[in-house]
Amino acid sequence: MKVTVLHGSPRRGKNSDTLAERFLDGLNTSGKHVVEHFYINELPITPCQGCLSCAKPPHNCKIQDGMQAIYKAYRDSDLIVWASPMYWGYLTAQLKIVQDRMEALAWSGFEDKTFAVLFTYRHHYQSAAGMFERISPHFNIDLHILECCTYDPETRLDIPIGELPEKLEEAYMLGVELSRL
Ligand SMILES: Cc1cc2nc3c(=O)[nH]c(=O)nc-3n(C[C@H](O)[C@H](O)[C@H](O)COP(=O)(O)O)c2cc1C
Repeated sequence: MKVTVLHGSPRRGKNSDTLAERFLDGLNTSGKHVVEHFYINELPITPCQGCLSCAKPPHNCKIQDGMQAIYKAYRDSDLIVWASPMYWGYLTAQLKIVQDRMEALAWSGFEDKTFAVLFTYRHHYQSAAGMFERISPHFNIDLHILECCTYDPETRLDIPIGELPEKLEEAYMLGVELSRL
């Protein structure tokens, strides 16, 4: 299986990256998959300019930047992993820019994928989950959402994800489940 992982956090190796890592461990129980990682924060990606060039055939985005590699990986992949912390109730700005630029794929190529959406958050992830739930039927996406709260409301302190083994296990098991696709 070909897999594209979109890492939305600017914090490499922290909560959402760790959740993605455990998910991939589970996926790899069925053998090695071809996995391409994109750490969005480290890529030069311009926000969508709304020029609507992509609305005209051949529906390509005319901005030549880091997004072109993501278009290719996305088109070639069966499974797309969206791993992001919640920032103000939504994907990080980095990943939102990627999502906007996917307008070019919305004309052709966005559809018929499996999505594993892995969110880490303190208080709220539902707005972002709602967006994926709303678009998935339209694009025939097989949607799987896993959320992980990394906050203790009693102490009002963040919990490093390493201290939440049951959630890491859930991510692993989701990987195992999707490895059977
Ligand atoms: C700028 C900023 C905004 C945040 N906004 C939210 C939010 O709106 N809702 C929420 O539940 N958590 C929010 N958080 C908490 C993060 O989503 C949470 O700590 C997450 O686990 C961090 O994941 P990471 O380690 O992969 O970066 C915010 C964190 C930061 C730095």
